[in-house]
Amino acid sequence: MPFVKFFACFSLILNPFFILNAESREEIIRKGKELYNSAGSCVACHMADGKGQKGSVPPLAGSDWLKGGSARSIAISLRGLAGPIKVNGRNYYSAMPPQLLFDDEKLAHILSYVNNAWGNKEALIDLEDVAQARRELPQDVFTPKTLLKRFPFDKKYSRSNGTFTPTYDDMISEITEPIVYRTFMPGASPAAFAVALPGNHYYCWDAGECRLRYAWTKGGFIRSNQNHWSSNGKPVAEFNGTPYYRARTTQLSYVSFDELSRTNNRQPLYDTSQAKNFPILIGEIKDAPSYLGYRLVEGFPNFRYSLGKHTITELIRPNADRTGIRRTFTVSPPVETTLRLTPTVLASVSSDRGKLSPDGILLLSAKESADFTVLIRPVEEAN
Ligand code: HEC
Repeated sequence: MPFVKFFACFSLILNPFFILNAESREEIIRKGKELYNSAGSCVACHMADGKGQKGSVPPLAGSDWLKGGSARSIAISLRGLAGPIKVNGRNYYSAMPPQLLFDDEKLAHILSYVNNAWGNKEALIDLEDVAQARRELPQDVFTPKTLLKRFPFDKKYSRSNGTFTPTYDDMISEITEPIVYRTFMPGASPAAFAVALPGNHYYCWDAGECRLRYAWTKGGFIRSNQNHWSSNGKPVAEFNGTPYYRARTTQLSYVSFDELSRTNNRQPLYDTSQAKNFPILIGEIKDAPSYLGYRLVEGFPNFRYSLGKHTITELIRPNADRTGIRRTFTVSPPVETTLRLTPTVLASVSSDRGKLSPDGILLLSAKESADFTVLIRPVEEAN
């Protein structure tokens, strides 16, 4: 008897894995459940009952996406997933950000719980598999295509799961996370971004010419998954609305994008003569701006570009009550700056710094240019 006791103590001290291995199935699932339901965790979107949210977040309860090994769900949790997916026969078109709150062991516990909650019956998850995936998976957020190429479904599940081609009707009714696409947009250079913001504000930012092109809110985000420039004759992404704000340099007039995409069939609307008319003026600088890239700040792109020796950043987020967009600019080094905004009856435009005249010219002192925010809100139509 004393020998057995001694041996047990000995292996506990020498082998920390003994303790992990010894953690019972119940213990793992109990800890996983606690973590799943903790603040900021999966529960915020997939809900405590694992059923997700109608139309915007797919269910984990009974999800075929958990089947065929755990590599796919580990990959989704670590890198995120954005784009149109089909889960158990239903369409979802949204984005899940990477879940970075949890270390390997915690994520293994959470996924072990998910695999065994709400009637699910899948394997417990090994923390080594999570660690390896974290080291080896590509850094980009997965699209449904890149994910399923790497982790395809078993044939018997692939009928009711996978991706789909969205139409306007499939567009999620409520955007909960920012969505960022590089795509060809009407009235922009070929280097354009289409971005969807919580509160269902959408905008086109033109990286080729370093400026916000236009913003819209009605009619949904762009139709994605199209082969632009392909045989369907639609050279640019389509959407189903009319912008409430557009840069004064843009070619667009107040027509709907349905009409615009028809025009685009004949001739793209982009006109390089507009490139000279940059909306930000600094001193005598005549150079064209140059695009430096973007970085995500809480999922929102913060665009960077330079004008002469000045670096400008522009971060576009919804305002607090999500009735419009806030464009926060920084100019560094700070310098007396003029921003040419567009006066329009479709939107109210204001700035927290500087002097904004009725013709949309915003004058900022050097000090004010260091950090200022322009608020643009669509005007509610009288009804
Ligand atoms: C901010 C909301 C959010 C959070 C937090 C979140 N998810 Fe998701 N998740 C989504 C959305 C939205 C999708 C669908 C993405 C799409 O449409 O491309 C998704 C898809 C999935 C899928 C694949 C589809 C399915 O239903 O099986 C799995 C698996 C998944 N999430 C697991 C998790 C786990 C595990 C956690 C916590 C570690 C988590 N998610 C946290 C929003 C979220």
